[in-house]
Amino acid sequence: MIFNPKILNNIVKKYGQTKSNLLAILIDIQTEYKWLPPEALKMIAEQLELPLIDVYSVASFYHAFSLTPRGKHIVTVCQGTACHVRGAPIILDRVQGKLGIKPGCTTKDDRFTLETVNCLGACALAPIVVVDGQYHGQTSIKKVDTILAQYQKAEKKVKLKKKSISKIKKKK
Ligand code: FES
Repeated sequence: MIFNPKILNNIVKKYGQTKSNLLAILIDIQTEYKWLPPEALKMIAEQLELPLIDVYSVASFYHAFSLTPRGKHIVTVCQGTACHVRGAPIILDRVQGKLGIKPGCTTKDDRFTLETVNCLGACALAPIVVVDGQYHGQTSIKKVDTILAQYQKAEKKVKLKKKSISKIKKKK
């Protein structure tokens, strides 16, 4: 998603141009873009009259924020102890193989970002894979294949829908 200053202005307006709203503003920007574009951080610093380094300090302190672009779908594979003993390394290998990327990376087509985490607080469901906030517990290689295929199928459907919409628009 391309950075749009209007979106940022609306978010800042919603909370008000005060320093104490920095975190709330960053959360909304992260939600909107799935990362914090540098242009956004610069504008926030100007509008809240904060040194840019302060904005970057907050943005880099919290794990929930990303300073690099992320894919449309965020795939998180838990590598905590409970998940580890129940096969998380094999699950991670499979996801890496399917997506062709290592943890912390995004596919070239910007569709998937792969991340790992040390515990999601739901160890009874180990091993866990989370896609876009949706928990998939007691995963197996087969289950992971099915989960990823669902998202890939959904992507294809969206592409086909966009194609047919643009065809209809061209006819008009
Ligand atoms: S170790 Fe994976 S949820 Fe706790």
